[in-house]
Amino acid sequence: MKLCMIGTGYVGLVSGTCFSDLGNDVICVDRDLKKINDLKNGIIPIYEPGLDELVLKNYKNKRLKFSTDLKDSIIKSDIIFICVGTPTKKNGSGADLSQIYSVAKEIRSSISRFKIIITKSTVSVTTGDEIEKIISQTVPKKNFSVVSNPEFLREGEAIRDFYKPDRVIIGTSDKKANTFLKNLYSPITSRGAKYINTSRRAAELIKYASNAFLATKITFINEMANLCEKIDVNIEDISIGMGLDKRIGGRFLRAGPAYGGSCFPKDTKAITTTADKFQTNLSVIKSVIKSNENRTSLLLKRVVDILKGKVKNKKICFLGVTFKANTDDMRDSSSLSMIPSLIKKGAKVNYFDPTGEKIDFKKLKNVRFSSNINSAIKVADLIIIHTEWNDFKSINFKKEVQNKKFIIFDMRNIYSPIKMKELKIKYFGVGR
Ligand SMILES: NC(=O)c1ccc[n+]([C@@H]2O[C@H](COP(=O)([O-])OP(=O)(O)OC[C@H]3O[C@@H](n4cnc5c(N)ncnc54)[C@H](O)[C@@H]3O)[C@@H](O)[C@H]2O)c1
Repeated sequence: MKLCMIGTGYVGLVSGTCFSDLGNDVICVDRDLKKINDLKNGIIPIYEPGLDELVLKNYKNKRLKFSTDLKDSIIKSDIIFICVGTPTKKNGSGADLSQIYSVAKEIRSSISRFKIIITKSTVSVTTGDEIEKIISQTVPKKNFSVVSNPEFLREGEAIRDFYKPDRVIIGTSDKKANTFLKNLYSPITSRGAKYINTSRRAAELIKYASNAFLATKITFINEMANLCEKIDVNIEDISIGMGLDKRIGGRFLRAGPAYGGSCFPKDTKAITTTADKFQTNLSVIKSVIKSNENRTSLLLKRVVDILKGKVKNKKICFLGVTFKANTDDMRDSSSLSMIPSLIKKGAKVNYFDPTGEKIDFKKLKNVRFSSNINSAIKVADLIIIHTEWNDFKSINFKKEVQNKKFIIFDMRNIYSPIKMKELKIKYFGVGR
């Protein structure tokens, strides 16, 4: 089939590449000329394990193309996936859908035969209705069908998630579009993924409801960790004990920093705003948002307590700054507010991240990037394990850190407190 992905970011590039690998002809379009030129030259703009080989292979085979010419790409394609960003509005309320609507306006002039237009971006309920309205202003209804096909891939596991998703959700009542999409996804559903056809609005809501639920799970266990710290209980025991209940499940039940990334923070805000619009109070999700926002200040307070209030001139090392491991994505990572706060209090921060230096910290005085773990921790007074990369799981701290009174604050609980005690290392975790 001939596909076009509009927006060549995490979602558009990964799913476009994987669809081409399944034998489809795919054009990935972006308005960012540098990104498209880089891709044509084999430079992959994001860190995603396994993606570079797959892009190069399919680009060489000419099944995967890159372009900035939206009009031409639409004309050549049968199925169009909209994969542009849907960030939180500047005023903090709801999803900013301007990129979606501007794409809908741009593509309608290039539709002269039947096309399926799919939102893969996470969009508020009724966005599909709005897109349909915009396109039908100039295109006869028989020439297009607007479908919701939300994306559930996780950064860091995106390729695996594309080929082996738990489910494929197709929101449409159009039989023709549904048949096309059943075919498109058949190599994936034949391996076991469930294909679910719902109404368009239901598909839009499934995505938000899923993300809000996962965010709730994380926030729930983070609050339990706060209690564990007060009553001398290990949160790991609670996570295991709860997670073994099949109705609960162990995933997303590990205490740590505030949830971040490009999805949970914005999607929880967006769903509550949508619900408010329809006079429905999603009070659980609202309190999750509040609790998560408080979490960063709570962990910062712990850092101050660990340093006995003496933050000034302390050398603090962050291991990992992205919101989770195996991605270079910094969007809404808690390090973005933790590091500037500690600097304000007079600390000197250096950090190491396996995905390299971050533009977000470049302008900050007293923040330095170290190019490897050993040089990052060498002169530290306090080491904060912020992101759970495998690279951080077997560090010989005793050998590498010069200041023998160094402290570790392991926000991911990747080390054993008992082993740390045996090594006589001052060590703090979360919820234990
Ligand atoms: N990142 C994830 O893990 C993930 C997972 C599931 C769903 N989503 C959803 O998918 C959507 C995209 O997320 P992302 O992380 O891939 O975003 P991204 O910011 O990485 O990529 C979006 C791309 O769209 C391009 N773009 C914007 N307007 C355009 C236009 N008019 N024409 C062509 N290109 C245009 C931008 O230049 C950018 O490259 C969002 O709605 C997000 O919520 C993301």
